[in-house]
Formats: sequence, C-alpha cells, structure tokens
Amino acid sequence: MQAVGVIPSQKKVEIIDHSPPEIRHDDAVRVRCLEVGICGTDREICTFVYGEPPEGSEYLILGHESLGEVVEVGAAVKHLKPGDLVVPSVRRPCSNDECQPCRAGLQDFCATGEFVERGIKARHGFMTQEYSEHEQYLFPAPPSLRDVAVLVEPLTIAEKAMAQVWQTQRRLPWQRADESSKQPGAGLTAVVLGAGPIGILGTMKMVAEGFKTFVYSRSRKPNPKAELVEAVGAQYVSALDHSVDELLAMAGNIDVVYEAIGVSSVAFDVLRVLGTNGAFVFTGIPAPKSPIEVNADEIMRNVVLKNQLILGTVNADAQAFRSALVDLQVFLDRWPEAIRSVVTGRHSVEDCHSLLLDKSQGIKNVIRFD
Ligand code: BGC
Repeated sequence: MQAVGVIPSQKKVEIIDHSPPEIRHDDAVRVRCLEVGICGTDREICTFVYGEPPEGSEYLILGHESLGEVVEVGAAVKHLKPGDLVVPSVRRPCSNDECQPCRAGLQDFCATGEFVERGIKARHGFMTQEYSEHEQYLFPAPPSLRDVAVLVEPLTIAEKAMAQVWQTQRRLPWQRADESSKQPGAGLTAVVLGAGPIGILGTMKMVAEGFKTFVYSRSRKPNPKAELVEAVGAQYVSALDHSVDELLAMAGNIDVVYEAIGVSSVAFDVLRVLGTNGAFVFTGIPAPKSPIEVNADEIMRNVVLKNQLILGTVNADAQAFRSALVDLQVFLDRWPEAIRSVVTGRHSVEDCHSLLLDKSQGIKNVIRFD
C-alpha cells in the first residue's frame, strides 16, 4: 500500500510501501483515505527538526489533516458503518495513570509530554491509502461536507482557541449578556495575524461569531488571500503598507488577537497594541531562531494595567472537532465559494516531494487517494 513518509535516519522523504491495516480491536475502524491536507508541520517534519517515527519503525508516515471513508468496522463499533465519511483527530493520550488531562480525554492538555500524535510524534499518520483507528477518535462528517471536510482539523485550532477565550473571558461578566448567543463577538473587534489556512479559517470563525475582523498579513493587496478574507466580510491590512500602530488606529480597541503567523517579531509587536481586557491567542509554532528584541516594558505594563490575557493553544479536543464540523457547514451555507477556494490544489501522491519540499504555493494543498 502506498504511503508518504520521512526516514529521519537517511534524511529522506519517500513514497513508502506500507502494509495495509487490519482490524485488531473490537472498536477499531478501517478507513480508506480520501484526502490529506499538507500543512506547515508536515513541511517542518520534512526538514527533520520535528517529528518522530513510531518505536521500532525507521520511518514516520506523515499526514494529520484528513478525510476518509469507513470500509470495515470491528464488532463493538456503535456509530459508524462502511461508506460513512470520517475525520480523525490527531493526538492520543499518554499511558500515565497520574496524567489527569489524558485520563479525562483531554490529551491536548497532556501533563507528562508522553502523548503521541498521528503523523507527527511516534504514531503513523494518514497520508496513506488506508489506516485503522479506534472509533472514539473518528468524527463523522455529513456527505454535504465532502469537498471541504479536509479542513476540519486546521479549523479545530480556531474552535479550541475560541472555546478557551470565551471560557476565560467569563471574567468579564458584562460581555456575556446572552450566554447562548451564536454571535458572542458582536460589538467586539478581532485581529487575525496571518492569511494562511489557519488564519483564513480563523477569520471565518471570527466573522461568524460576529467580531469586526481585521486580517494583518504581509502581502500587498490585491492578492487572492486578501480577496478571500474580504469576501467573508473581514478587512485585510498589509503589513508592508501599514505599521502595527496604523492597524491599531483602524481597529480601535482590539478585543481578541488570533495569532496564526508563527513569526514572533510580528506577534509581539501586535501584543503591544492589544486592547483593554483583551485576549491574545498564540497558535503558531516558530522554529527556534536567534533571540529578538521586544518592547517588554510596554507589553508588561499593558498586560497588567489593561487586564490582558495571553493564551497558548495546541490542537484539539473532541468538542473542537465536533464544533468544526458544525461551523464548516455554517461557512459552506454562508460563503460557499470562499470556503471551497481555501483548497487551492488537489494532487496525486506522486506530487508529494514538490508539495512537501518546494516553496509553498496557494493556500491549502491536498493529496487525494481516491
Ligand atoms: C497539529 C496539532 C499538533 C501540533 C504540534 C499541528 O500542526 O495541527 O494537532 O498538536 O501540530 O505537533
């Protein structure tokens, strides 16, 4: 069976011949992979600074953003049947009895660091014709999402981030007049940093929640990413044309920053202008570089005097996958063209080397196995 993987000991990215999966547990599901998205983490694993093969394997099969179709189910599988579309989650719990988050099914908060991640850390991923997985880690996708469900996993980052923001911002009781509101961001301003897939999906989430949303990214207008975010009602501001202080003048009090740029210099410069009682969410994972200078006194003064919240978030719990499936349908109903245009290329496995190793092109590239 064909799979795409890295062989760290040989510093190689290869199409690998991998043995097909078997149903080994009653709750296991065999899944035919339809599409796998390529993200910055995959590309970073291909530079061999990140990623770890499973114990005893020389290679790691890549891929953690995936859409598949169930082909076979174990005897104890309750909610899935052959033909169903499914999206798998990524992180699996550690085995330490003392790890309260993992024991509670919240392995995204694993306390031991011994978690594993499919396609990233010590467990093969989904960039392969078939895989098997326990039912509890597979989230059913309705057929209406067939074209876009490969975006569920990158959207879960915004889903978890905003769930955390709202939970934490309960410290501001006047902002939660209506707890069940579908538009908890109404009357508030958000800035999204970066217009890659994580930034674009985060922008859709912010706009859908009712925020007045600005996207601060490098490229000058006009460009396709700027057009896409403006098509959903956000305002695109190019960092080449406007300083962070100009962004602030346009936005007013910035209530939430959703960082999806992975560039610490820009992130910390924008943290400097976060508004009163605001929340700054970091989602980017920059590769280690030399230290940079930041205006630490100004930032620290603001954090204290403006009651600011700084939140880091790594992907994602089961609830975030469920909410992402709900929101993707919302996006599809509201902006059918925009959400579909996030996937800019569907490629065959043979294109994997250029997709993983060459300069990244377009927005979200996907390898299809169907
Ligand atoms: C994935 C997460 C993972 C993180 C760190 C991201 O690309 O979406 O699931 O936790 O990388 O490995």
